[in-house]
Formats: sequence, structure tokens, C-alpha cells
Amino acid sequence: MFTISPRASSSLYTETSVTFVASGMSSTALFSSNPSSPSSPTGRLTMVGAGPGDPNLLTVAALHSISDPEALVISDRLVSQEILDLVKGEVRVANKSPGCADKAQNEIYTWCLGGLAEGKHVVRLKIGDPFVFGRGGEEVLKFRGMGVEPKVIPGVSAVFAAPLLGGIPVTHRGVANQVVMCTGYGREGTSPDLIKYHPDQTVVFVMAVGRLRELSRKLISMAGYPPDTPVAIVEQAGNPGQRTIRGNLVDIADKAERENVKPPSTIVVGDVVAVL
Ligand SMILES: C[S@@+](CC[C@H](N)C(=O)[O-])C[C@H]1O[C@@H](n2cnc3c(N)ncnc32)[C@H](O)[C@@H]1O
Repeated sequence: MFTISPRASSSLYTETSVTFVASGMSSTALFSSNPSSPSSPTGRLTMVGAGPGDPNLLTVAALHSISDPEALVISDRLVSQEILDLVKGEVRVANKSPGCADKAQNEIYTWCLGGLAEGKHVVRLKIGDPFVFGRGGEEVLKFRGMGVEPKVIPGVSAVFAAPLLGGIPVTHRGVANQVVMCTGYGREGTSPDLIKYHPDQTVVFVMAVGRLRELSRKLISMAGYPPDTPVAIVEQAGNPGQRTIRGNLVDIADKAERENVKPPSTIVVGDVVAVL
């Protein structure tokens, strides 16, 4: 068992550590509940979004964190090798493949706590954005329960980057004025509730290629989607093997099977697929 001394904590969330200013607009780049806490002898934890895989899509803050030579980087399995190659310290990759996700998650906590107990800068590297379908919030709560408050650095989410890289604008005037993001798999493999059809809406699904046939059938039969609703699958967005497969709700599952589509892939449903 590892003993971690809690860092000074505040009951209020104070935001900002780095503020980027562009075109007269400013935005908070980092989220930290205790950015002004004194340095702790027990190490520190930074949760970092790695984006969809292309190192050029890392934020500057993410690059600083992962290239800290003192850092112990605990990475998700889907983070690309090109990004892992930028790590200057030690890197450990969790084997979060289907069927062993919970075991891998426990291993991640053990590795993080071990590094913190040794006073290291532990970087928890997560694909895309940590707070978008990535268990990032769960991990913050878990670490907080252990007396460790991570700093969280956002990442470019595949939900928005994959459509763009596949040539699909998720909103387009006169075509789509709403975007919904969904997962194909809920907790313990359940199917989340379906989003009812709305003609002006784009729906982006992550973690759904394994359920594409069932999903397309149900969108037509239970959620009111016209069978010819355009669908695109963007596989390996931003990575050397990127492909985009286009079709409609009736034929996309067959096309995906023929093309042997694999994760990580993002599915876009709606008329925006055919806009550009
Ligand atoms: C566990 S979710 C995490 C999402 C992540 N937190 C984000 O914001 O992008 C992993 C899913 O994201 C999508 N994804 C991640 N990277 C991708 C990529 N390079 N190309 C296409 N889809 C990707 C896939 O649907 C994959 O199954």
C-alpha cells in the first residue's frame, strides 16, 4: 500500500495556470483545483490529453509535460507511437484492451501512486481529451480520494478532430446546427439510449465500430433516421493509416466489413458527411 500525503487543497476550483490569448480572445488552457499549492514532497500528477495521435496536434502544454525528463508517463494503449517517442523519461503503457479494461485501470492507479510515492512527476497520458469519454473525471475523483489532486491539460478530441481530418465539418450553415457526441458502449458493455433523428443534427459516435451494424439498424428502426442518411467512418484520424469510408445507414456496415475497419475509428452520421 502506498501512503500519499494530501496536497494543500481548496474547496473552490480556481482556474488558470496558463492563459493563451489569440485574436483578442483569451481562454483558460489548464484546469487545476489547487494551482497555487506549495510544492509537495510526494510528487505531482498531471493528466494530459494526447489528441488523436498526430504529434502536431499536441498542445504546447501537453508537449511540455510529456517531454519532462523527470516524468513517469503512464499512457493509454491507443496513444500513438509517434507521441510516445517524444517522452524523455520513463513510459509505461496500460493494456486496456477489451475484456481487461478494469484490471488495466487498477494497474494504472498502482503505477501512478507508486511514482507519486517516489516523489516523481507522474503524467497520466490519455487519448484525445481526458474528459471526453475517457474516464478522466472518474480518475480525478479516484486520485482525489487518494489525496492527490491532478492538474488536467485538455487535448484535441477525436470527436471533433476526426470528422475535420476526414473532410467533414460537424456544423455547416443550412445543414447542421447541432452536434451530439455519443459512445457506442455504455458501462459494462450496455448500449446507450439512441438519439432521435433531427434533420439539422450531426451525431458523432466514438467506440462504436464494433456495433456499427446494430447501431445503423436501430437508428433506422427505432430512432426515425431515413435509411439514406449519410454516414462516414474516419479510421486512424491524424495517423499515417488514416482512411475515410462513406456510405449511408443501409450500406455502411457492409462497407466497413469489406474494408476491415478497426478501432480507433469515429463515426459521423448526418447530412454534413456529404457537404464538402
Ligand atoms: C476511449 S475513447 C476516448 C475518446 C477521447 N477521450 C477523445 O476525446 O478523443 C476512444 C475512441 O475515440 C475515438 N478515437 C480516438 N482516436 C481516434 C483517431 N485517431 N481516429 C479516429 N477515432 C479516434 C475512437 O472512436 C476510439 O474508440
